[in-house]
Parts: sequence; structure tokens; C-alpha cells
Amino acid sequence: MAKPKLSFICQACGAVYTRWQGKCDACGEWNTIVEENAAGGIGGGPQRGARRKGRPSALLPLSGEIEEAPRIISGLAEFDRATGGGIVRGSAILIGGDPGIGKSTLLMQAAAALSRRGHGVVYVSGEEAVAQVRLRAQRLEAADTAVELLAETNVEDILATLGQAKRPDLVIIDSIQTLWSDAAEAAPGTVTQVRTAAQTMIRYAKASGAAVILVGHVTKDGQIAGPRVVEHMVDAVLYFEGEGGHHFRILRTVKNRFGPTDEIGVFEMGGEGLREVGNPSELFLGERNAKAPGAAVFAGMEGTRPVLVEIQALVAPSALGTPRRAVVGWDQPRLAMVLAVLDAHCGVRLGQHDVYLNVAGGFRISEPAADLAVAAALVSSLSGAPLPPDCVYFGEVSLSGAVRPVAHAAQRLKEAEKLGFGRSVLPDSSADLPKSHGMRIEVVEALPDLVAKVA
Ligand code: TYD
Ligand code: MG
Repeated sequence: MAKPKLSFICQACGAVYTRWQGKCDACGEWNTIVEENAAGGIGGGPQRGARRKGRPSALLPLSGEIEEAPRIISGLAEFDRATGGGIVRGSAILIGGDPGIGKSTLLMQAAAALSRRGHGVVYVSGEEAVAQVRLRAQRLEAADTAVELLAETNVEDILATLGQAKRPDLVIIDSIQTLWSDAAEAAPGTVTQVRTAAQTMIRYAKASGAAVILVGHVTKDGQIAGPRVVEHMVDAVLYFEGEGGHHFRILRTVKNRFGPTDEIGVFEMGGEGLREVGNPSELFLGERNAKAPGAAVFAGMEGTRPVLVEIQALVAPSALGTPRRAVVGWDQPRLAMVLAVLDAHCGVRLGQHDVYLNVAGGFRISEPAADLAVAAALVSSLSGAPLPPDCVYFGEVSLSGAVRPVAHAAQRLKEAEKLGFGRSVLPDSSADLPKSHGMRIEVVEALPDLVAKVA
């Protein structure tokens, strides 16, 4: 009898080794490599050695009929927006997030909303007992809907149960880390198990036409625990995120085969679950103190929606040999770059200063277009002079000190105007702007122009 094949798999990134080692060469993590029995084949596909003769398939031309992907729409506008206009039938979606951020709450609310619109939804809870899920459903006023509940963790049993009933439109698996399959002999929670279970559920989605949502917990370093491997198997990946101490929650699309990425849905967690936030700018600017130095309003874009947020900077002479740089809600290397450009091209020297940068409201910005607002906030904090309270900033700073145009200038300005801002500092992107704009526009071509304006 052949010996069962043993593999050593990194639980953080899924890299496979033939022998154990302390450090994973692929992701650099220590002590994450675990021995797993890979017998049964990953995903339960045909066994090695069991020869199958190839079957010819039809070759197709590129032109031809295109069917619009049919979607199921929940009516929760923020949820639908993040999924790219509704969940595509037969697709698999991964929703990742920190434990306790509100994934189960969000999905229970989405399930209830879909059910109220006549869609069949099965909620598979592998993590919580039926009573717990019912209690949450009651609290969220979802208990009166036709959502069906299944407390099961074995994939084969789940499929057998689903096969019995009328085909649902959506199956929610909460969470993928609790599933295990007979086809994989590894222990539950290992990469092999998670991958096999996910693949089986994805195959079910494609074959049955029901959409499948897989919930995945994220570890503290931001990766979906172990099964980062699931990310490339699914059609869409969404993260549910929020900063500690804030009630805002953001559903962010990082991958979507059927729609745009970078789209966000904004929610606020309250006593009765998640409330949709239709106008996030108002919320993020809500607690603004416009007279404080070091605060600049950035007119940003998140997917197709403009979002205004306040960027706060504090610079203070440092008592340390190596001054501190602390960033919340933005990119640390990006801050280092803006500081270097201010130093090299504008004579603004912060080498002996501690620098703190914070995006208000627990929001996270990924756009380089925030460079100009960050620079304005830094210079304002250093000089102690507040920025004009009715002014917004956007533009990308290049290493040469030039301020480069960014996309969607007109949309950013429209949102700013709507919220009562009267002026904007921006790069030369006039081609993009409509002729009649109600705002005063101040063009800066290079960062020194901005510094002269602010300081
Ligand atoms: P949960 O959805 O269980 O998080 P996850 O599935 O991501 O682990 O949400 C847990 C948190 O949300 C918990 O700390 C309580 C809070 N919460 C509210 O504040 N209001 C509510 O209505 C609900 C249901 C939960
Ligand atoms: Mg949960």
C-alpha cells in the first residue's frame, strides 16, 4: 500500500513544502508550517493515478451573445453598492473582517432584506448555536423573515441538506474556518480543509446557480486567517472594516469579477444592528473643528462615490534621536514621501519633529490624491496657522515636487460644493472641470506653491 502523502503547508499563506521548516520562505512567517495529510486531493478532484481520457470541448469565437449576469438585490443600498449592484447568481463571495467587527450582523440583515424581497436564503452557522443566531435575528428584527437556518459544519452534510430543499438563491456560510470536508483528512481549520471546503461550496454555487457567501476571519496582520488561498478562488472579495472606538463600518470591495473594485458601503453600528450611511462625508466631517491648525479637508473618491474627510496632522519638536512618525488611516511610506518632498523642494524641514497623522472618523484612505491635503495639514500644523475652513484639497505629489492631476475632479468639487465648501486647491486639471463652477478654484502646479499659500 502506498504511504499517504504528507505535505507541510503554511497556515498563513498556503505555500506547500515537502518537509517541515521553521520559517515560511513565501511569506516570512515563523512557526506557521503544519503537517497536513493531503490525501484525497485538494478540492476532492480526480485522484492522481486514476487516468481519465480527455473529452473534447467546443472552441468558441470571441464575438457572440453576452448575457448580463443576473443579480439578486437586497435593497440595502450600501450592501448592494459594495457587491457591484447586487449579488450575481451562481457566484461566490468572500467577506473578511476582524472577529467581532459585525460580519454576522451584516449578513443576517442582508439575508433578512433579501428574504423580504422573496429570495430564498439559507444561513449556515458553524460558529454559533441556533439559539444565539435566533437571538441576534430577533434583535435585528429579522426573525419574522423566511430565512432558513442550518447549524452544521460538515460540507457534505450541508450539501445534502441543501439538495433536499428548494434551491435557495443565496447560501451564507458563517464561517469558512469552521467547515470541514470528508474529502480532506487534515484537521479542521487547516489550509487543506478550508481550501477543500471552499472549493466544494464554490462548485455547488456554479452548478446550482445559488450564490454563496463565505465569511472569513482575518488575523491581526490583516490576512484572512490561513485561507488567504480562498481569495483567488472566489469571484469577489469584500472586507468589513472599522477602527476600534468608532461606530463606522466600511464594506470595501477589493476584488470583483462582476463589478468595480474600490467600491465602499458605509454603515454605523448601533443597538439595532447596522444602519446605512447614505452620505458618509457628512458623517466624517461631523465633529470637525475647522479653526484648529493642522486640519485639512480632503475631497476623495471611493469607487464611484466622492467622500470628504478631514486629515489631521500634528508636528512637534522631538525629544528623541529618531523622531516618531505615526499614521492612522493612511499609508506610512506615502507620508515619508510627502515629508521628503517638503524637505527637498520646499525647505520645510521636519527631520527634528515628531509627526502624527490621523484621518478623522476612523476612515482609511488609499488614494495618492490625498498627498496635497496631507501636505497642507502638515504645513499648517508646523506654522500654527489654521487653513481656510471652507477649502478642500486634492492632488497627487510626485517626487519632483510637481502636483499631478487626479481623476474625477468634477465629482469631487460637486460634493464639496454640496456640503458648503466655497474653494478648492487642486492641480491643473481644468480639462476635466465643467465651465460654470460655483467654487473658487486655486491651481497649484508644484508643492512650493501650496506651501507659499498655507504658511
Ligand atoms: P458580530 O456580527 O457577531 O461580529 P462578527 O460576526 O464579525 O464576529 O458582531 C459583534 C459585535 O457587534 C458585538 O460586539 C456586538 C455588536 N452589535 C451591536 O452593537 N449591535 C447589534 O445590534 C448587534 C447584533 C451586534
Ligand atoms: Mg460572526
